Amino acid sequence: MKLLITSDLHHEITGAETIRRLVAGMERENPDAVILAGDIGNPSRLFEQCLGLFVRLNCPIGVLPGNHDLWRSPGETSILLHEEILPAITRDCGFQWLPDGPMNIGEGIAVAGSIAWYDYSARDIEAGISEEQVAREKAIFSNDAREIDWEYSDQEFAARCRSSLVTQCQALEGDPSVRAIIVVTHVPVMKTQMEWRRDDARWNLRNAFFGHLTLGNELKPITKIHSIVSGHTHLGLSGAAEREGGRPIATSVIPSDYYKPRWVTVEL
Ligand SMILES: [Fe+2]
Ligand SMILES: [Fe+2]
Repeated sequence: MKLLITSDLHHEITGAETIRRLVAGMERENPDAVILAGDIGNPSRLFEQCLGLFVRLNCPIGVLPGNHDLWRSPGETSILLHEEILPAITRDCGFQWLPDGPMNIGEGIAVAGSIAWYDYSARDIEAGISEEQVAREKAIFSNDAREIDWEYSDQEFAARCRSSLVTQCQALEGDPSVRAIIVVTHVPVMKTQMEWRRDDARWNLRNAFFGHLTLGNELKPITKIHSIVSGHTHLGLSGAAEREGGRPIATSVIPSDYYKPRWVTVEL
């Protein structure tokens, strides 16, 4: 079973030609399923154009949004994009909108996915950075401060995503027909998916917008989770998250970047 996962295509920057080459490369891999893990295209017209480039792939495709996909534009609020516009575009392409529920890709393997969002748990707490400081300085570090227009605090939206994904994974854990879960998130959720620079105060604050470690901690006890793959930071990291009394979870961050889209392969 071969799953290819890509993210951070940023169609508005990277452009169709480069993404078309990526899709052709993925097609040559003959995957059993493909996941697009957010930051696909904004505004929604470009999200739709980007998904259209994947229609030629002859396998099931799962889609989840990234923060950039939810940036407002005239007539499109962040919440409308998340709840209605992007799910409808995804379904019209014949793809599965992963926030709605897990995707069964055969051989007892399920993919569960979420944007995950960030709840400031990845800030450097030891350096004395408070949640209030992160919220105050958000506009310096993240354009989400200007471009996301919902009423939620980051912690509130993150908690919503967390509750939904953990509930889905717990149900899969209890389902005897499922033997392995692959978790895909836009924002990284494990410490092993983050770059730590102890002596860089700016980086330590910025990390608050690069992780949702509270979610990772809640996923750890779910024994069927085989791997966690995320996007968002464009860092291209791979590692393993240790857990008590069980096999480590393979973790990675997709090395996609502006103009240089990439995928990672999970084989089971
Ligand atoms: Fe991105
Ligand atoms: Fe992102």
